[in-house]
Amino acid sequence: MVPAAIIATKRDGGEHLPTEIESMITGFVSGEVADYQMAAWAMAVVCRGMTAKETSVLTAAMLNSGSRLPRASDRPRVDKHSTGGLGDSPSVILAPLLACFELDVPMLSGRGLGITGGTLDKLEAFPGYRTNLTSQEITDQLRAIGCVITGTTPDIAPADRKLYALRDVTGTVESIPLITASIMSKKLAESLDALVLDVKFGSAAFMQNISDALRLAESLVASGRNDGLSTSAVLTAMHQPLGRMVGNACEINEAIEVLECHTSSPLGSVTLRLCSELLVATQRASDLASAEMKLLSEVESGRPLTRLKKMVEYQGGVYLDRLPLAMTHTVCAGNTGYIHAIHGRLLGQAIIELGGGRKSMGQAIDHAVGLEMLVRVGEHISAGQPIVNIFAADRSAGDVEKLSVARHLVEQAIVIAPGAPTATPLIVPL
Ligand code: URA
Repeated sequence: MVPAAIIATKRDGGEHLPTEIESMITGFVSGEVADYQMAAWAMAVVCRGMTAKETSVLTAAMLNSGSRLPRASDRPRVDKHSTGGLGDSPSVILAPLLACFELDVPMLSGRGLGITGGTLDKLEAFPGYRTNLTSQEITDQLRAIGCVITGTTPDIAPADRKLYALRDVTGTVESIPLITASIMSKKLAESLDALVLDVKFGSAAFMQNISDALRLAESLVASGRNDGLSTSAVLTAMHQPLGRMVGNACEINEAIEVLECHTSSPLGSVTLRLCSELLVATQRASDLASAEMKLLSEVESGRPLTRLKKMVEYQGGVYLDRLPLAMTHTVCAGNTGYIHAIHGRLLGQAIIELGGGRKSMGQAIDHAVGLEMLVRVGEHISAGQPIVNIFAADRSAGDVEKLSVARHLVEQAIVIAPGAPTATPLIVPL
């Protein structure tokens, strides 16, 4: 196959033969297809799209570029994937909670991307927590405690690792077929029995509006079902951070609070819904309502919190009931009115400025910095009322400068206006 001819087919809006897609992927992994050819093809896909059949062939080709995790036990194996946002830490709660229902949760997670946080960065706030487990270590840990949250191993979808790095720097991330193949090749490699997808919509999400989020959710679900995997999805709002806390140690502390029975928060509600979908899919519950009752009673037993502690310790970490945070600085409202909008992108930038996210690849991050949101969209507030706590380092003049930039971003992010805004539902079923 000639890469230039395959690129031209997509450039002109044609539909690929399965062999064309397969040869692009195998050629890219082996080095026969150059980065510039792959980037040109990815751009043609962004502009021209792919049919469901092409997307499914691409997903399979990326999956087959590596191997699948071996099964560790007879227990059903489940996972969830979130398309990412701010204050979005259900994974830390979901994995130990579902493990308490005799389910295995082999969660292969990622690091922060752009303004969105990454589960691995958050868990590394526990001193010593390892995120580079081998396939054998994953299997052993699943057998022992039923849950693991680690990075992808080198043999999981290597084509995706190479292609994602290229897409990141060539303006080719925003494509439903490419996102679908990227996410699902990694999830299918986990050898799951059931998967739930949390597809975010809103200003701090990949998909800004609900109709794009719906198209992405439908594509992801079709790809999972096509491979025989029980797959469901929920759309959840990301017009403001999901949790009250934003930042690495901050989000771990809030996840621990949920496992300590503070389940009625937006973070608790979304997590319970995602877990409920998986309990129904694995016949642990007959419907979503009874699943939620079972989950609440399990949280009350304290067992999921103990399981989180075990998971952290199995992975070499030191478990702490509350992770230390940096110095608190309070931002107060400049005027009276309703909270109309909370611009997540500006809050995400504030976290990066404080050192809680990365400006360049591989940069070390400060786990102790972050934000505590004291208000949510729709609340009425008075001038002078505290609206956000900033947790910022205070070791040097550079830290003072970072705090001042972050404070400015936070002030810009929170829009206060007269008249109540229209409410957006937190969870929209597919
Ligand atoms: N997350 C992924 O893993 N891949 C994408 O393409 C986008 C988000």
